[in-house]
Amino acid sequence: MLKTLGIVFLLIVAFCATGLSQEDDGNADYNYIGTKGCKKCHIKQYKSWAKTKMASAYEILKPGERAEAKEKAGLDAQKDYTTDGECLACHTTGYGKAGGFVSLEETPQLAGVSCEMCHGAGSEYVKEQYMHLKNKNYKLADVVKVGLVSPVTGDTCTELCHNEKSPFFKAFDFKERKEEGTHEHFPLKYVHE
Ligand code: HEC
Ligand code: HEC
Ligand code: HEC
Repeated sequence: MLKTLGIVFLLIVAFCATGLSQEDDGNADYNYIGTKGCKKCHIKQYKSWAKTKMASAYEILKPGERAEAKEKAGLDAQKDYTTDGECLACHTTGYGKAGGFVSLEETPQLAGVSCEMCHGAGSEYVKEQYMHLKNKNYKLADVVKVGLVSPVTGDTCTELCHNEKSPFFKAFDFKERKEEGTHEHFPLKYVHE
């Protein structure tokens, strides 16, 4: 009798544990790893991105930067907005999220709109079994399941930043802006189906 109770108890524990771990997977909050974590394998995209306005989106929050535009939008041109959470949400990567931007001192690699703002936090999808040089033919669906955003679409941009919450919102045409805002695009070499 005691033995049966013991087994039933173990089964319940095991059942709860699987239930929990499944829920964990489903709601996982992936961490941001910073541009260095992508640069080593995507040097061309990195170099090209570094020249875009996205890369320097943090700089323009400093006092005196874009003074005229700020005044026109009713902002204080001499104010330092580099610690203002309202601005950081769109001018840094992952602000307010797990492993995301905190401050220039603590998380310099996440200042500006960098790789993971558009492509999703990378802590999981850069692991060996996903996007890796040892696994060049990963399946896109598998990496998307663990946080990669690909392809990045117009909706990605408008949902995150290019919307009316921005004091500088202007009409957003994805095709046109993709050219100037993201990075140069290079065809993929491997099959991911
Ligand atoms: C260890 C190497 C490695 C690292 C690190 C890495 N990637 Fe990749 N990534 C790859 C490989 C390999 C491919 C497939 C390239 C191909 O098919 O030509 C790829 C493809 C991609 C694609 C295209 C996805 C598709 O199939 O549509 C995106 C987007 C991407 N990477 C973004 C990132 C981002 C963002 C980071 C950093 C968070 C990152 N990668 C880090 C190796 C890496
Ligand atoms: C919802 C996202 C979002 C928020 C919040 C946001 N911005 Fe921006 N900001 C943008 C986007 C997107 C652009 C680029 C506008 C465009 O070209 O479409 C931009 C552009 C700018 C520019 C450049 C304007 C120019 O014409 O040169 C400055 C300066 C700026 N933002 C400062 C701020 C400040 C300061 C705050 C906080 C008070 C802030 N932003 C809050 C998304 C945001
Ligand atoms: C502002 C958004 C944005 C940022 C920032 C960004 N990307 Fe992309 N990325 C895109 C878009 C849009 C595509 C094209 C999606 C498509 O057409 O399928 C893309 C495509 C890619 C691809 C597929 C191959 C290619 O060249 O098109 C890779 C790899 C990639 N990005 C890596 C990176 C890395 C690494 C960084 C940071 C250094 C980065 N991206 C930063 C938006 C962005």
